[in-house]
Amino acid sequence: MFKINENYLKLPGSYLFSTIAKKVAAYKQANPDEAVISLGIGDVTRPLAPAIIKRLHDAVDEMADEAGFKGYAPDLGYSFLREAIAEHDYKARGVDISIDEIFISDGAKSDSGNIQEIFGQDNKIAVCDPVYPVYVDTNVMAGRTGTYDAGSERWSDVIYMPCTKETGFAPELPSETPDLIYLCFPNNPTGSTITKDQLQEWVDYANKSGACIIYDAAYEAYITEDNVAHSIYECEGAKTCAIEIRSFSKNAGFTGTRLGFTVVPKELKCGDVTLNSLWARRHGTKFNGVPYIIQQAGAAVYTPEGKAQLKEQVGYYQRNAKIIYDGLKEAGYSVSGGVNAPYIWLETPDNMTSWEFFDKLLNEAKVVGTPGSGFGPSGEGYFRLTAFGTYENTVEAVDRIKRM
Ligand SMILES: Cc1ncc(COP(=O)(O)O)c(C=O)c1O
Repeated sequence: MFKINENYLKLPGSYLFSTIAKKVAAYKQANPDEAVISLGIGDVTRPLAPAIIKRLHDAVDEMADEAGFKGYAPDLGYSFLREAIAEHDYKARGVDISIDEIFISDGAKSDSGNIQEIFGQDNKIAVCDPVYPVYVDTNVMAGRTGTYDAGSERWSDVIYMPCTKETGFAPELPSETPDLIYLCFPNNPTGSTITKDQLQEWVDYANKSGACIIYDAAYEAYITEDNVAHSIYECEGAKTCAIEIRSFSKNAGFTGTRLGFTVVPKELKCGDVTLNSLWARRHGTKFNGVPYIIQQAGAAVYTPEGKAQLKEQVGYYQRNAKIIYDGLKEAGYSVSGGVNAPYIWLETPDNMTSWEFFDKLLNEAKVVGTPGSGFGPSGEGYFRLTAFGTYENTVEAVDRIKRM
């Protein structure tokens, strides 16, 4: 008789986006003439940049030709893409990453969820609260998190690092030493980040305590301030304690095209074993590569035309972020984020819960956002708006919120 992985049964239902969808559908049914604007989900809306589209077409044509046809991609990804990444994402920032430390994947969700597989069962993880839920849920599935307490919404064997107004929405070094530390800067959902000096403190802490940092830099392209690191490897000593995960979703609009990569430096070791060799083994065994045409599209991101077009595209969303941030501030809200990230995190007014504010915003402004409590207990009393809508909708949404 087969048995299931009972850890899956421990997962509390994640009703966040389905509850939002249900509430919005009910509102639309009751108010069919109202135009609802969504600044809720973290998905992009701009079409792929022309340089990327051109490269996609060219790569498709290559596949039609016997000489150009490609079958399985190399395990780690095509070297033309890994070389472009090493050159433009790292060398250009003074970081030396070799191409056999770069693993091409179908995105940061898969990598941030799968990476825990190369670590032992008895590692204790530390996460920010609020948090991108994938880090915790995948560790639950692996049986690493203990028991769930519905009252506190916490797992017994997870170290939580609250990111609240009091901490500047940044985590503080935990008092209990973790083995694995998940960090995401710029952050989803709070839109905040930390300076390079603060990140250096985390790197020093990890090296000293023997912890490994899993660094999710999916929103790196949104950094506008000079004192913020684009890669954790800009910090001294990071190669002996950190894995970095990157995505093409938000810097190049690949949410539906799917491309990302993970860097596992060869200096990162447990005894004599390199994590690079473990991830290479895992990748080679369980993943059969990102399509050639998508990797070609990814390489177009690093061409001069691609870079210029994407600067404009990211700038479009950054302008939206500023409109939301400034507009809400003007309207008297307490807001953060939005400066180095496409997310604006606002404190709900009048001590409303996140869901109460959701209802108010939907009913009075016809705007949809995401209740902060859906990302963890420390998100209660907060609300996330995204800059990924169209410019026109963003302006209209902010006007409506101001009139509320
Ligand atoms: C923090 C964070 N990491 C990873 C992802 C997923 O990225 P990808 O589209 O590359 O899977 C997201 C997407 O919203 C995210 O917010």
